[in-house]
Amino acid sequence: MRLKDKIAIVTGGSRGIGRAVAELFAKEGATVIIMDLLPQGQQVTDSINDSGGKAEYHQVSVTDKPAVTRLFKMVNDEYGRIDILINNAGITRDRTLEKMSEDEWDAVIDVNLKGVFICTQAAVPYMKENKWGRIVSAASNVGLRGNFGQTNYAATKAGVIAMSKTWTMEFGKYGITANAIAPGFTMTEMVDKIPAEHFTKIKDSIPLRTVAQPIDIAYGYLYLASDEARFVSGICLTIDGGTSR
Ligand SMILES: NC(=O)c1ccc[n+]([C@@H]2O[C@H](COP(=O)([O-])OP(=O)(O)OC[C@H]3O[C@@H](n4cnc5c(N)ncnc54)[C@H](O)[C@@H]3O)[C@@H](O)[C@H]2O)c1
Repeated sequence: MRLKDKIAIVTGGSRGIGRAVAELFAKEGATVIIMDLLPQGQQVTDSINDSGGKAEYHQVSVTDKPAVTRLFKMVNDEYGRIDILINNAGITRDRTLEKMSEDEWDAVIDVNLKGVFICTQAAVPYMKENKWGRIVSAASNVGLRGNFGQTNYAATKAGVIAMSKTWTMEFGKYGITANAIAPGFTMTEMVDKIPAEHFTKIKDSIPLRTVAQPIDIAYGYLYLASDEARFVSGICLTIDGGTSR
């Protein structure tokens, strides 16, 4: 098992990529704390626990600093440490720049960027105590390339990459690594409203001529969260079928 006895917090673990990460990490021996707004996180944890894994679900928003701080303290009190933080929760509010409202800008910045700041700030003191930690945050290949209609989203994903590099410098001496993952188009509910003809165009633009499934991305998280990646920090691992090259 690659994460035996590790304590891992996965934000946005109720569905999509976060759910695949939670299930894979539990299979690999981690105790998984799912933090999400969607109550279906409870079903995910029930199914992990029923199949012999260990998981807990907490309905907490990454934007709620007091609640995040309380939860992380509770996890540390219960298990004695926090080893892994997966900053996966994210949202989109797509609109071209000229039509984008301030509310749409603020909502995406709050969850995708400030949420990552809040959760990482809450986790780091516990990681420092144990001289071991893994912070892996959800960027996107949109953070590297930009994307039509995603000014707000692209800004947050580029920000996540830069924050990870910064934390590499701030926390490396404590045995904490910080990396980002940049998925390309991945089949989750986040993208399922895309019209069929546009979907075909996206697929054709990917060198591997297929889109990712959540598990394809989860394997990247597993590597960066494991002992195997102990000398890997400050990178952005792109998993997008060869689109960014
Ligand atoms: N699907 C893709 O094509 C794709 C591509 C690149 C990057 N990503 C990124 O990967 C991550 C996961 O994407 P996904 O496709 O699985 O999305 P998704 O919408 O299927 O799942 C996101 C999860 O985050 C949760 N969430 C949203 N706001 C939250 C908050 N304030 N607090 C706690 N939880 C919250 C949602 O409830 C949901 O369970 C996101 O950060 C996304 O930007 C996705």
